[in-house]
Amino acid sequence: MADVPQKALPNGIPPPPFKLPYPESAEVITANMLKLTDLTPDDRKRFLLKNLVTHLHQFVRETSLTTQEWEEAIFFLTATGQKCTPIRQEFILLSDVLGVSALVDAINNPPVHGGTESSVLGPFYTDDSPDLQNGDSIASEDKGDYMYVEGRVLSTDGTPVPNATIETWETDGHGFYDTQYAVRDKPDCRGRVHADKDGYFGYRAVVPVAYPIPGDGPVGNLLLATGRHNMRPNHLHMMIEAPGFRKLTSAWYPEGDEWLESDAVFGVKKSLVVSLSEVRDEAEARKRGFPKGGSYKLLHRDIILVPEEQSKQAFEQNAKAAAKNAPAAV
Ligand code: BEZ
Ligand code: FE
Repeated sequence: MADVPQKALPNGIPPPPFKLPYPESAEVITANMLKLTDLTPDDRKRFLLKNLVTHLHQFVRETSLTTQEWEEAIFFLTATGQKCTPIRQEFILLSDVLGVSALVDAINNPPVHGGTESSVLGPFYTDDSPDLQNGDSIASEDKGDYMYVEGRVLSTDGTPVPNATIETWETDGHGFYDTQYAVRDKPDCRGRVHADKDGYFGYRAVVPVAYPIPGDGPVGNLLLATGRHNMRPNHLHMMIEAPGFRKLTSAWYPEGDEWLESDAVFGVKKSLVVSLSEVRDEAEARKRGFPKGGSYKLLHRDIILVPEEQSKQAFEQNAKAAAKNAPAAV
């Protein structure tokens, strides 16, 4: 019993150097809470908290939130937390379907003229992709229809970016990532490709298919309750890194998919929609290394990276414009 305290222990922080009026109205509750945010020592945290409290309290007041609705919200958030495991992040999924992930991405990776735009990371990235040589396959045989992906990694000024690392992952032809199977002996439909000194890369993959985001949790119920589908259009994820350039997390979205313009997680940008060409040439298919030969789809697109300095300037410009347009500071 030695480490059971004799008395319930306070956290050690003294009363604030001001007295708060008793909270006799909704307005006083908000004002008191805002006053307390002033105690936050860290400038950025104080700023974020003040804004959060302002908007959250405003939401509750403007909607006249009922006790029952408040309870439902608590149950929903509790269920969201309870659905999380080391490999399932229901809160990120919630952020995704509410457009918050896409918004954070848009703010942190503003488009730079000529640069390949970013897209959401999603929950299916793993860091155990095998290292591949140019021309290798990211997918084992019979995982889907053949596709060859090739292009060059370039800078926004058109010069080649040497030796970039391209991590890429996708579902198989059934619309499942390798991590969604009960048994996963090794990574599949994912790989780490290395562009050569002139920026060239090429690898075998499978034609992406549209698939539903996980629908067996509170986020799935939220979509059902709000009349929304849970589909993502066909896509191939990629994450590209090269020294001196902004890390790019993005995806290519082959055209013609019925879900492109209503992606459940707001990841598609027009510039990321690509056309696949059909190569019907047995000899060419075999030369590419497709074991069964036949035909394959070709995704030919260069990846344009943004130099770090250019990226920083774009972020700062955007932040300035956002601050100018923001409602009066709280
Ligand atoms: C994905 O593309 O892998 C994804 C992104 C957001 C939510 C679910 C899946
Ligand atoms: Fe995906």
